[in-house]
Amino acid sequence: MKNLTKTIVFMMLIGLSQWSFAQKNKNTKLANKEAFIQELISKMTVDEKLGQLTLYTSDMSVTGPVMRDNYKQDIMSGRCGNIFNAYTPAYTRKLQDLAMQSRLKIPLLFGYDVIHGHKTIFPIPLGESCAWDTLLSEQSAKIAAAEASADGLHWTYSPMVDVARDPRWGRVAEGSGEDPILGSAIARAKVKGYQGSSLKNKESILSCVKHFALYGAPIAGRDYNTVDMSQQNMFNVYLPPYKAAIDAGAASVMSSFNEINGVPATANKWLMTDLLRKQWGFKGFVVTDYTSINEMVNHGNVANEYEAGVAALNAGIDMDMQGAVYMTYLKSAVEKNDVKLADIDAAVYRILDAKWQLGLFENPYLYCDESRAKQTIMTTANLEAAEQTAIASMVLLKNENNLLPLKTSGKIALIGPFVKNKRDLIGNWSGAGNWTQAKNLWDAVQSRTAGKATISYAMGANVTDDTLLIQKMHIQEFIDKRSAETLLNEAIAVASEADIIVMALGESEGMSGEAASRSDIGIPSNQMQLLKTIHALGKPIVLLLSNGRPLTLSWENDHIPAILETWFLGTQSGPAICKVLFGDANPSGKLTMSFPRNVGQVPIYYAAKHTGRPFDNSQKYTSKYLDIENTPLYPFGYGLSYTQFIYSNLKLNKSQYKEKDTIEACIEVQNTGERDGYEIIQLYVQDLVGSSTRPVKELKKFAKLHLKAGQRKQIYFKLATDELCFYNANMERVLEPGTFKLFVGKNVVDVMETTFDLSAK
Ligand code: NOJ
Repeated sequence: MKNLTKTIVFMMLIGLSQWSFAQKNKNTKLANKEAFIQELISKMTVDEKLGQLTLYTSDMSVTGPVMRDNYKQDIMSGRCGNIFNAYTPAYTRKLQDLAMQSRLKIPLLFGYDVIHGHKTIFPIPLGESCAWDTLLSEQSAKIAAAEASADGLHWTYSPMVDVARDPRWGRVAEGSGEDPILGSAIARAKVKGYQGSSLKNKESILSCVKHFALYGAPIAGRDYNTVDMSQQNMFNVYLPPYKAAIDAGAASVMSSFNEINGVPATANKWLMTDLLRKQWGFKGFVVTDYTSINEMVNHGNVANEYEAGVAALNAGIDMDMQGAVYMTYLKSAVEKNDVKLADIDAAVYRILDAKWQLGLFENPYLYCDESRAKQTIMTTANLEAAEQTAIASMVLLKNENNLLPLKTSGKIALIGPFVKNKRDLIGNWSGAGNWTQAKNLWDAVQSRTAGKATISYAMGANVTDDTLLIQKMHIQEFIDKRSAETLLNEAIAVASEADIIVMALGESEGMSGEAASRSDIGIPSNQMQLLKTIHALGKPIVLLLSNGRPLTLSWENDHIPAILETWFLGTQSGPAICKVLFGDANPSGKLTMSFPRNVGQVPIYYAAKHTGRPFDNSQKYTSKYLDIENTPLYPFGYGLSYTQFIYSNLKLNKSQYKEKDTIEACIEVQNTGERDGYEIIQLYVQDLVGSSTRPVKELKKFAKLHLKAGQRKQIYFKLATDELCFYNANMERVLEPGTFKLFVGKNVVDVMETTFDLSAK
């Protein structure tokens, strides 16, 4: 018996030492990334290699037109190495188990559209950009990454950094507006937030810069439409945010659906290889958008899916999202010598490299930890951060006679489809967010005014009466079946009893986002009828707007004394809006897209070029509309506060600069009102004469300053002369001597100005 025990212990020790030898061996091998990945590739069949270049949606949720049957068998046979639209530790563990049954046991990579938060939903990106606060942008990405990674995910399809200047395009909601400098700053912050300092950190996930490139400029604002753009516009305006994200270390890039210079991005070798990899030095992997290889047959640049797959791989696309084209055709393309096996290997390497960096080869289940999910998701701290971000994202568009903030007394009527609404608050692309957990305005106002003011409610109108639109947006279950007249009469009765009326109107979440372009970007007509009817009662009205794009608000601006833009603010919408409504918080957001007066002005953006015939009222033959002004209703950078800021003493350190100098500008800003507040200060330049025509103004710097009531501060900006460079007609990046105007102010129109000269050397 004694001997037996000895033998067992001895055998256990041998087993342990063998195990630890194997572990050590594995770890040593793993430590040398390149050798490890190359060895793995050398063991792979062509099908297994193509499997690593394949991404399929799971059946948990689907974000595009098609779904692949049998994807689970594909995982087990090594023919699918990546999955999207699957999350939760339990579900990703289940799928990862399937990958561990495959011959080489290469772990799956799990991707998802974590766009503005995972479960704690932050404001839509367009809204968040109005905070002009890169620390907030980074923080929301960091929280999203922590929640997503705790929920089984490795990879987000964010940030979307497409500059967008046409508000008819529904996806303006997902980006940071019309400006490349602000867009670049936010792009950098987002990448930093998602990826942290190391992807080895379990709280980090891979970011994916999209949609490369120029997806934000579809003709006429119609989603998926053709893009046709000059090289100069591309390099001076549209490309910088992608470049900024890549310079910040973004691990992956998603190709856009559109064509560029006649070649779809997904087959565009100039874009994906010459520019992205060779010029910009991108080292990560490129994934297509949903079935965009297949869609090239529709574009008409290839005759069939075989040619599409060959063109995509040869252009430099590594991973095929959902189309199964690589899997179906590239093996025969290798045999026919239409693609090189070495190029497939290089693509496989890049994808395995990402998996390696995430630590998945050490532990494929690293992100499948149920207990971490419980501790990390929707914590009080995350919800507080979401509320702060929501407050910072709101833009006060009008506030006649300081109608806002409201007093918590008297009779306040809350009217409109967004008062009790929760469904729309988390906005479009709210991924794993659960709208039933969003907090609405009604509950927040009720608790804020309890025992002090009398509040009443009427919905007044559905979000729309357009039955076709209701069908397209699948919102039948949220529609009040009572007649429009009944709803309106109820609102009139409620409003008649009130001292002040708060109207919460706007777009439903599905009216912006992907495949949600609109040709009329006003508040839906039935809600306008409600607004006009209530306005006719002659009582003070505060208009709260929920929407995912700039709206046309000319009538509203002419008739309604107070207007607050609230976008879709996420989980904490209600409490955040309520705080601004009653003055517990002071609004400070400023617009990052111009709001047109009517849709006929679109596209409208501040950094326009001069024309040879600038508008002059006394002349017939000048650039104008006969029926509307040229200017937007609310310009870029515009937004009010409950306090006032006065700017004075704009100074430069010199009036003449040389090529390597730094331009130092200084201005004084004073809070002359009675409340503390944040002010977003913007610096623009205008290059008066260039070898190519230059925009009337270009944002170069911005800062956000907190000023106590009465406080005055000086703010300094440093501008390197390099920041005055632009791409000329020969596509050379040049710095041209000459005279520049420099403006500093509260928005693009309301500025102080000075000039400086830049000499040749
Ligand atoms: C299509 C969208 O264009 C893209 O932004 C998204 O990431 C993918 N679908 C995946 O859902």
